[in-house]
Amino acid sequence: MALYSEKVMDHFRNPRNVGIIENADGVGEVGNAKCGDIMKIYLKIDGDIITDVKFETFGCGSAIASSSMATELIKGKPLSEALELTNKAVAEALDGLPAYKMHCSVLAESAIKKAILDYYKKNGRPYDESLFADIDD
Ligand code: FES
Repeated sequence: MALYSEKVMDHFRNPRNVGIIENADGVGEVGNAKCGDIMKIYLKIDGDIITDVKFETFGCGSAIASSSMATELIKGKPLSEALELTNKAVAEALDGLPAYKMHCSVLAESAIKKAILDYYKKNGRPYDESLFADIDD
């Protein structure tokens, strides 16, 4: 069996939503101290809807595929839905990641949460701190 699914390879080779958003409403950057990989997510938000999302990932193929899939999953969605996105859901949408690569998908979940937190803070919006307690950065 191939180590990586077709979907992982597709999102690695043709990543969606790569780049930066000038004047983003929320930006979240996280890194993994062990592997040294870094992921940055930019959000454009209108009302409560994520109207645009871009990412920059300096990292492994699984991290790039996870960023690409995660951005596709939250684009056009309300913030409440994006906050519910788990790294497991990202990995499942990619038809799985090897167990020792699951931490790569955690970066995507954490970067999105951090970007939303950034948006809430910049705009003085009240938020439930417990939703951000598990940000892994
Ligand atoms: Fe570090 Fe994949 S090995 S994010």
